[in-house]
Amino acid sequence: MTPERTSDLLAYTPMIHARMFMETPKFRDHHFQPTKSGLATPPKISPDEAPSDLYLDGHPKIDRPLFAQFCANSPEELLQAARYVEPFCDAIDLNLGCPQGIARRGNYGAFLQEDWGLIYRLINKLHMNLDVPVTAKIRILESKEKTLEYAQMILSAGASVITVHGRQRDQKGHKTGLADWSVLRYLRANLPPDTVIFANGNILRNEDIFRCLEETGADAVMSAEGNLYDPTIFAEPPKDDGREYWKGRDGKGGYRMDAVFRRYMDILYQYVLEKPIPVRKPLFLPSDVQNDGGANGFGIVADEEVDDQPPVKRQKRDKKHVKPTSPNLLAMQPHLFHLLRPLVAKHTDIRDALARSRAGDIPAFENVLQMVEGAVKRGLIDYEANPAQFEEADAPNEEDKVSLDNDESSMTTVKACKRPWWVCQPYVRPLPKEALEIGSLTMSKKDRRRLEEEKVMEEARAEKAKESAREELDQSDGMERREMPKEAMVAG
Ligand SMILES: Cc1cc2nc3c(=O)[nH]c(=O)nc-3n(C[C@H](O)[C@H](O)[C@H](O)COP(=O)(O)O)c2cc1C
Repeated sequence: MTPERTSDLLAYTPMIHARMFMETPKFRDHHFQPTKSGLATPPKISPDEAPSDLYLDGHPKIDRPLFAQFCANSPEELLQAARYVEPFCDAIDLNLGCPQGIARRGNYGAFLQEDWGLIYRLINKLHMNLDVPVTAKIRILESKEKTLEYAQMILSAGASVITVHGRQRDQKGHKTGLADWSVLRYLRANLPPDTVIFANGNILRNEDIFRCLEETGADAVMSAEGNLYDPTIFAEPPKDDGREYWKGRDGKGGYRMDAVFRRYMDILYQYVLEKPIPVRKPLFLPSDVQNDGGANGFGIVADEEVDDQPPVKRQKRDKKHVKPTSPNLLAMQPHLFHLLRPLVAKHTDIRDALARSRAGDIPAFENVLQMVEGAVKRGLIDYEANPAQFEEADAPNEEDKVSLDNDESSMTTVKACKRPWWVCQPYVRPLPKEALEIGSLTMSKKDRRRLEEEKVMEEARAEKAKESAREELDQSDGMERREMPKEAMVAG
């Protein structure tokens, strides 16, 4: 990203459990690391007197602006937790959107939706007692009017920003479906114009950011899953294509997975491991081969000898391996599975090597990187030789298309997002009706009953419409018509 665009970015911490955070020093160490010495007591820091051992979270040079997000159901616990992070962030956010079972059991997130009094007290407690602003992330409710009332209550409690996820609480897992931006538009139109609204949901690609800003009138967008699968989502294509960005002959492209994987590793070396970044060869481009016939080390070589590296060895399990506690190292494997999803679906040897890579085993991850670079190199060479094979393979098969209209089918989105497997791309979830058709979603008895009732009502409505159309016809030509037998209509 260009420096100007980078300055548009704001990050949130993952949701932190307020009570555990304020009670347990170890929990604090594992979830928020603004200093190397940890947070023994709530720090008292004046703006011009920073601790000498600043570490990563909320670091003024690399991790701001930052909103620290909590879930809570006790105003006092929330305030005590917030006091620890207040000097290292720009706002404290209250998560009122989490729909998971754990939130139901713990009575937080979206399960506070029914208790507006408590939500008011939680937000207001921070508003009255903290130096940084308080913000809230909500889901939409059953109607736009109710959502507006809900947002008004949250703002009246003192929230400076509301992030609105355009899905209701039960829209999760296979039932996720699409976010409803029209509710966000309604909030924009009916809340005071100076209300700061962040829109969330349906952001899969860079283009979606601008479409969402325009359609909702929001001040910013938040992306979670889209950003996990494609960490370049906020970056526009570079001015000169270079080596990190790939473009197909149809002009569609994206950032290369090997490039992003390298950058990911380099960030870890620089900030987490505090080691020099390894010197790496430039990323492979097919034109290197055409330009120098392979003399500089980019040449086409046998698969096992990619880039003159020794053949990839099977990793052995180290019995003495001690699991690290750094969240940065623990997150590596899941992050990389998201990033590499289409690539590891094709290259199962790489999937297995990544699955065997234990947290903190940096050489194992370097090995996976090397395998990825080799696979991308072969993919790019194959593309040059026969681009059509990727284009055909990438287009969704018409026969597989389920008979659903656009709001019920993800096929159009899949088509728009799909890239060759070496390019970062979003994962497009099947919509609920598709999930039903492929059998990954089974309906609860209640949902089935509701669907059957809706079907009966729909049929009754259609029958009534036909009847009145017939009546109109009868009246218009004055002729008497006999009721057509049902079977004939069906056959017709
Ligand atoms: C792996 C994962 C972790 C998430 N964790 C949080 C969280 O800690 N706090 C939160 O407010 N939302 C969390 N969310 C929900 C997202 O913020 C977001 O509301 C939701 O995924 C819809 O937006 P998206 O389409 O950009 O993913 C999480 C979502 C995913 C997929």
